[in-house]
Amino acid sequence: MDELLKIKEEALDKISVCTSLKDLNDLRVFYLGKKGPMQAAMKSMKDMTKEERASFGQVSNKVKQDITKAIEDKKVALEEAEMNEKIKNEKIDITLPSTTLPLGSIHPLSMVREELEDLFIGMGYSVAEGPEVETDHYNFELMNIPAGHPARDMTDTFYINDTLLMRCHTSPVQARTMLKAQGKGPIKIICPGKTYRRDDDDATHSHQFSQCEGLVIDKNITMADLKGTLELFAKKMFGEKREIRLRPSYFPFTEPSVEVDISCHNCDGKGCPMCKYTGWIEVLGAGMVNPKVLEMCGFDPEVYQGFAFGIGLERVAMLKYGIDNIRNFYSDDLRFLNQFTRKD
Ligand code: DAH
Repeated sequence: MDELLKIKEEALDKISVCTSLKDLNDLRVFYLGKKGPMQAAMKSMKDMTKEERASFGQVSNKVKQDITKAIEDKKVALEEAEMNEKIKNEKIDITLPSTTLPLGSIHPLSMVREELEDLFIGMGYSVAEGPEVETDHYNFELMNIPAGHPARDMTDTFYINDTLLMRCHTSPVQARTMLKAQGKGPIKIICPGKTYRRDDDDATHSHQFSQCEGLVIDKNITMADLKGTLELFAKKMFGEKREIRLRPSYFPFTEPSVEVDISCHNCDGKGCPMCKYTGWIEVLGAGMVNPKVLEMCGFDPEVYQGFAFGIGLERVAMLKYGIDNIRNFYSDDLRFLNQFTRKD
């Protein structure tokens, strides 16, 4: 029995200082296995009396249980320590600076175009398209600008040949849309797109720029509809406090025609360099569709009326974001583009 208790003490000592699962398993095999000191001690049982054997058996069972329990406890402790060590080593240091992947931003012109599309689609318009290489017929004739008309000089156009040109405005899409509708309203479209003019490039002019045309044709359309629509445009693009002002103007395809000013968003109309101290900024042209245009494009002007407008996208973006050089839009300079985050 002393021998058994000695074995137990020795085993518990070794288990307590054991530091690896492998060593622990070796101890288990040694102390509880067939060839260990326990089995050797058991051999003496054959020389014992029945009573001695019974109490020896009890003690040896208890010793086995104690060793087994000590090994199990140690195993749990070692496994936990191992796991903790693993977690510690695998810990991700979130304070390390990460590698930033370059994320593109939306071009300011696209931002303005998308904002306009959202606004007008929300009012029931659809987005129309037309070719950038256009015929004289659509670009001029159907817009009530016949050959020799002085308005042709208002825009210096890139001609490809006698009848083909680079469209100098998005207005020909009005004609294309009306002709497609074959005299039946209503029509509610906007057409954002590229336009071309033989301008000398400078801070505010570019030979290629972008416009957004608008056209509404229906019965009982009045100038009040145009004004309400443009007021909403002004508030959406430049802030709730914006007001608009219509000034008489001239475009061959509208009668009457107006230039539309918006109260300056930079100074709230008080006067600043942006509005040249007038409190107003000229933003677009508009008007009631000229009955001649309606007629040429297959609509009965006695039945249908309409309004139209043409917005310069660069101009809107320049005013909105305080961009002072139109060339920034086309130069692909990341220092410029990165100022427009996706969120803005
Ligand atoms: N097409 C004109 C231009 O390029 C802009 C314009 C003015 C469009 C009045 C319109 C409008 O639809 O009604 O200068």
